[in-house]
Amino acid sequence: MLPFLLFFLFPAHSAAELCHPNDKAALLAFKHSFSNPNPIPSWDPNFDCCSYYGVNCDETTNYVIGLEMISDYLTGTIPTALANLTHLQILRLQKMPNLVGEIPSAIGELTNLRFLEISWTNISGPVPHFLVKLKNLAFLELQFNRLSGSIPPLLATLPYLRVIDLSRNQLTGPIPESFGYLPKTAEFPALDLSHNKLSGDIPASLANLNFSSVEISRNNLSGDASVFFGKGKITTVISISRNNFEFDFAKVSFMESLVILDISHNKIYGSIPPQIIEDTLLQRLNLTYNRLCGKVPTGWKLKFNPEGWDYTSFFHNRCLCGIPLDPCK
Ligand SMILES: *[C@@H]1O[C@H](CO)[C@@H](O)[C@H](O)[C@H]1NC(C)=O
Ligand SMILES: *[C@@H]1O[C@H](CO)[C@@H](O)[C@H](O)[C@H]1NC(C)=O
Ligand SMILES: *[C@@H]1O[C@H](CO)[C@@H](O)[C@H](O)[C@H]1NC(C)=O
Ligand SMILES: *[C@@H]1O[C@H](CO)[C@@H](O)[C@H](O)[C@H]1NC(C)=O
Ligand SMILES: *[C@@H]1O[C@H](CO)[C@@H](O)[C@H](O)[C@H]1NC(C)=O
Repeated sequence: MLPFLLFFLFPAHSAAELCHPNDKAALLAFKHSFSNPNPIPSWDPNFDCCSYYGVNCDETTNYVIGLEMISDYLTGTIPTALANLTHLQILRLQKMPNLVGEIPSAIGELTNLRFLEISWTNISGPVPHFLVKLKNLAFLELQFNRLSGSIPPLLATLPYLRVIDLSRNQLTGPIPESFGYLPKTAEFPALDLSHNKLSGDIPASLANLNFSSVEISRNNLSGDASVFFGKGKITTVISISRNNFEFDFAKVSFMESLVILDISHNKIYGSIPPQIIEDTLLQRLNLTYNRLCGKVPTGWKLKFNPEGWDYTSFFHNRCLCGIPLDPCK
């Protein structure tokens, strides 16, 4: 029986090998640059690397185009050997608490990347400027790390960018004005910069953007966040809570697409425009802890909340009144 078993454990690799030798060398170098005694045991040099766990090859060219890892085991820095996976389009390193150090410049060589995710790790240092070399990038997801420094303004020159998620880091400085001038090809961006230490006024240029969603809660941003609103836009989520925003809510015109709105814990003043009920699909609403005044509009015709909103959507404002709060005097 033994030779038969061995045949299955160590198949003759010549027949099955689809993987390109350079890709395989790069993957094995990637594996061995971690400091663990036995990193990624299943990546056996005798096997076709297109069959490795987490590796995806193009069906016609057999080049490695995807590398997706989740590991609480792998320890060390992001391997520079990645630079030799020259056809890589998708790189996702997720939930790797023992991944440390900065994002290496090797990542900037992967010019075919469309999807870059490094999330839930302990990497630190800046959001690197060299990411601007990744002209095909559509998804940039660097959430839940320890990144610091400011957001590189030139990211806004990437022509196909659709998602920027830099949430839950320690980023400082302003939202770059350039973000209001994303190329037309990057038309409906989803932006998540929440849970950082960003400060400064919201650039007026952001009014140009037709965001699909914008989440910037829990920063120290200030100024007029009404630029995110506007009739005719396609935004579904606006979450700007826990900043220092000051603007007149009565002057906001809402997009019909709006489903989630959280402006809580700011200094937003004025009354609640009746249009918020008449013209939107709102399902979740939080206006608490602001300086709003006047009568809460009536006549909510909400799909999932036919009774309207209870007081937890409105409390702790300057002088809001009427159902579901106390009657107006
Ligand atoms: C890329 O591959 C070449 C040739 O195999 C090798 O000399 C070089 O060290 C590799 N680069 C990295 C960053 O591993
Ligand atoms: C970072 O490392 C600390 C221990 O040093 C760990 O508690 C934490 O979960 C790690 N963070 C992430 C996002 O994995
Ligand atoms: C937040 O920004 C304001 C200026 O808008 C500044 O005075 C304050 O110190 C900042 N707070 C923190 C915690 O950085
Ligand atoms: C936003 O995009 C939608 C869908 O393409 C379009 O109809 C609308 O005119 C755009 N609105 C603005 C303000 O750019
Ligand atoms: C709105 O936010 C406040 C403060 O964070 C919270 O107490 C309240 O439950 C929230 N209400 C809703 C409807 O989410």
